[in-house]
Amino acid sequence: MNRQVRLRSRPVGMPTAENFEIVDAAMPAIADGQVLRRTLFLSLDPYMRGRMSDAPSYAAPVNLGDVMCGHTVSEVVESRHPSFRVGDRVAGYDGWQEYAGGDPKDLRKLDPAMRPTAAIGVLGMPGLTAFVGLVDIGQPKAGETVVVSAASGAVGSVVGQIARVRGCRAVGVAGSEAKCRFVVDELGFDACVNYHTSDLKSALAAACPTGIDVYFDNVGGNVLAAALKLLNRGARIPLCGLISEYNATESTPGPNLRPLLVSRAMIRGFIVSDHTDRAPAFYQEVGPLVREGRIKYREDIVRGLENAPAALNGLFEGRNFGKLIVQVGV
Ligand SMILES: NC(=O)c1ccc[n+]([C@@H]2O[C@H](COP(=O)([O-])OP(=O)(O)OC[C@H]3O[C@@H](n4cnc5c(N)ncnc54)[C@H](OP(=O)(O)O)[C@@H]3O)[C@@H](O)[C@H]2O)c1
Repeated sequence: MNRQVRLRSRPVGMPTAENFEIVDAAMPAIADGQVLRRTLFLSLDPYMRGRMSDAPSYAAPVNLGDVMCGHTVSEVVESRHPSFRVGDRVAGYDGWQEYAGGDPKDLRKLDPAMRPTAAIGVLGMPGLTAFVGLVDIGQPKAGETVVVSAASGAVGSVVGQIARVRGCRAVGVAGSEAKCRFVVDELGFDACVNYHTSDLKSALAAACPTGIDVYFDNVGGNVLAAALKLLNRGARIPLCGLISEYNATESTPGPNLRPLLVSRAMIRGFIVSDHTDRAPAFYQEVGPLVREGRIKYREDIVRGLENAPAALNGLFEGRNFGKLIVQVGV
């Protein structure tokens, strides 16, 4: 059988177990030119909350009754395609299920020298997001101060480390003392501020004595408001995510925009799937840094596909510590 997690109903606020349905479906059959693969790892990402909703967005929602979407690392178990052999490990977009079959056009063979999960984390969609947002939109220059929120997470951890490689001062914002210690001691950021502090603006100002040149925003809300007050002239804000709002049931008031005018700052939203042309440059620059250990990554691995629904909510509560991944079938 092929165990699947399907979307049963659309959540209001934080998703619950009732929004999902775990089903034992028939095994997929493959035709000539196709590949059957078994999911080893499934990536859980904040954008999945958006796919569970039918509110207008940049991508179509998952239909009720369909398998939840998601990036995967899989092993080929049957191949009727000349380029794939049984045992090949591939990255794809097979979703929350144990097996998937079909055309291999979206499959990418993995570099056997790398940990397979890197393909859905530091060298996958989150890593490319960090690269495009920081390098192309943030345009950091050596000596500048780059601040990133959700700094211990999949995207934020890469943003700060690329900033350091490019000679910037990297300052993280994260939700616990343990995460802040990791960001500074393990990832090599210059400083990290716990946003649960009573006076976030003062704490951020102390960590950024020369102001902020690039604020890479992953969260919106109070952290964005605090960062806006410290912008230097000509600052850039890659607007990557607003995770503090993804489960909001009412629209949240935005921060005051006056600091953008005063500092002549630029804020630009971006969606990584519009920038896949940058993947070769990303692999070329970041691949060797990861292999040499100059960019480090932490993974938070949850075992069992049936635990994916509860684990997804951890992203919105800060329970994950590193790239959140479900080990489905190793
Ligand atoms: N634009 C794009 O194309 C694109 C692509 C990928 C990801 N993203 C966005 O990038 C952001 C980070 O994604 P990720 O995959 O790297 O996730 P992640 O950082 O690994 O995990 C999410 C983290 O967000 C933080 N968080 C949750 N609720 C928060 C709140 N109310 N206020 C402040 N922080 C909160 C938590 O860390 P703390 O414990 O530190 O609070 C949590 O661990 C998300 O907003 C995501 O939607 C955008």
